[in-house]
Amino acid sequence: MRIEELRILGGVGKNNQPDLVEDITLKMGDVISIVGPTGSGKTTLIDDIALFAHRNTPTNRSVLINGATAPEEFMTDPSRNPIAFITQHTNFLSDLPVNEFLEIHASIRRRENIASVIEETLDFANQLTGEPINPVNGMTELSGGQTRALLIADAVIIGNSPIILLDEIENAGIHRTKALELLKKYEKIFIFVTHDPRIALLSDFRVVMQNGAMVKTIDAHDEELVVAEEIKKLDDLILHFRKLIRDGQRLERSMLEERLSALGYSGK
Ligand SMILES: Nc1ncnc2c1ncn2[C@@H]1O[C@H](COP(=O)(O)OP(=O)(O)O)[C@@H](O)[C@H]1O
Ligand SMILES: [Mg+2]
Repeated sequence: MRIEELRILGGVGKNNQPDLVEDITLKMGDVISIVGPTGSGKTTLIDDIALFAHRNTPTNRSVLINGATAPEEFMTDPSRNPIAFITQHTNFLSDLPVNEFLEIHASIRRRENIASVIEETLDFANQLTGEPINPVNGMTELSGGQTRALLIADAVIIGNSPIILLDEIENAGIHRTKALELLKKYEKIFIFVTHDPRIALLSDFRVVMQNGAMVKTIDAHDEELVVAEEIKKLDDLILHFRKLIRDGQRLERSMLEERLSALGYSGK
């Protein structure tokens, strides 16, 4: 079944108050974010999506695929489930070397040209993480960032999942802007639960959660895109200094002034 559209119909929040957003439609190629304070119901919302809720969860929401309730087989047959769900707690339950694991997954998925699929997956993962993955290493030897990067690459390329849910993965050593740029090239629906301004502002729109309910959606409009560009620069600045500190360098005032003036700020 080709997924064209994912629709979320509102239910209720924690106090049984109605979702103020009653209907959200996501098309293939959309990247959206879910934002809100801890405890506001972000994970619960993506759980509803992962479960293809049909008024049978505490939120009373429903999720429609191509305008209809999801077929039973999505839940009963993992190979037909169009959703890949990646969380901070997702881990590979395998001690196989990376390349063997990918090979097995690719053959289960009946992918042709297994060698090139694996190469593409590793290449994708390595663009997401700063620390290149050695394919002969065991899966359990990977760092948090490498694991997250490989999970995303595996879901996108080998799993070829049309809908990918990511719950707060940003602190795990992933190159976020790169990830979004790469992900946008694949026609998929990406839903990020995130506190990261960079991801939130690069999304097509964001859903704001409060007290368990969807309270509004905000579109990325022109002015926000300008703000997003500036935030990106400042974030790069922080990443730059983080790297210098990691590399054991001593920081000097002139380094900051130089960087800031290169970005068009005064630095004083
Ligand atoms: N719509 C809702 N109806 C009932 N309980 C909810 C609802 N949304 C969230 N909760 C509950 O509130 C708690 C926090 O929600 P959670 O989704 O984990 O928040 P977040 O991921 O934003 O930190 C959980 O125990 C969850 O079951
Ligand atoms: Mg959560």
